[in-house]
Amino acid sequence: MVIALETDRLLLNELSLSDLEDFFLYRNDPVVTRYQGFRPEKLEEAKQFIEKLKPFPFPFETLVLPGWYQLGIRLKIENGLSVLIGDLGVHLFDDDSTTVELGITLTSKFQGKGIATEVMNAIIDICFQHPTIERIVCSTDPRNEACCSLLRKLGFELFKFEKDAFVLREEIVDDMIFHLHKA
Ligand SMILES: CC(C)(COP(=O)(O)OP(=O)(O)OC[C@H]1O[C@@H](n2cnc3c(N)ncnc32)[C@H](O)[C@@H]1OP(=O)(O)O)[C@@H](O)C(=O)NCCC(=O)NCCS
Repeated sequence: MVIALETDRLLLNELSLSDLEDFFLYRNDPVVTRYQGFRPEKLEEAKQFIEKLKPFPFPFETLVLPGWYQLGIRLKIENGLSVLIGDLGVHLFDDDSTTVELGITLTSKFQGKGIATEVMNAIIDICFQHPTIERIVCSTDPRNEACCSLLRKLGFELFKFEKDAFVLREEIVDDMIFHLHKA
């Protein structure tokens, strides 16, 4: 499988059905997905999600078709092997080829170890080498301290605070939209 992105500790490439059980385990975890919309309740739901994913174009500069793409984040272990520890969503908008939205999720066990910083720095780098992308957008629930701190640490700035932005599992939630611009 083509590696979309590689860092010291990590490989990012497409999710496949061989990831299904690991993917379901953390995506179904209410602590991990406390502030996220996608929380499959059944294995079948996770399976359908993986089956419907768009193929991630390679190299990254050829990524032009609007929509959501999802990459598996894999920790390198010994003998060239790796284990799935999260995923990265990459969203290209229908009406704006200058902007990309990112969303990252890690299993509880691998949070707080600088993994998101490593992934985000790498994807930010290649996003800003893309011929059209000039702005990266991330949105999060204001109560998601880990995400807000991560984004601020990476240089994102708050663009908009939206009160009562949407309903998430019967709760009306606020939303914070952060922007990072190409230097
Ligand atoms: C948000 C998330 C991706 C951060 O990943 P991570 O690998 O733990 O982040 P890092 O270890 O790279 O930490 C980045 C910075 O965020 C801050 N941070 C991390 N975890 C934190 C926590 N639990 N509370 C407050 N700040 C936290 C720290 O400032 C840290 O920088 P520092 O260690 O240099 O001080 C991770 O917590 C996660 O997957 N959460 C569940 C899914 C989610 O909510 N995703 C957000 C998209 S909506």
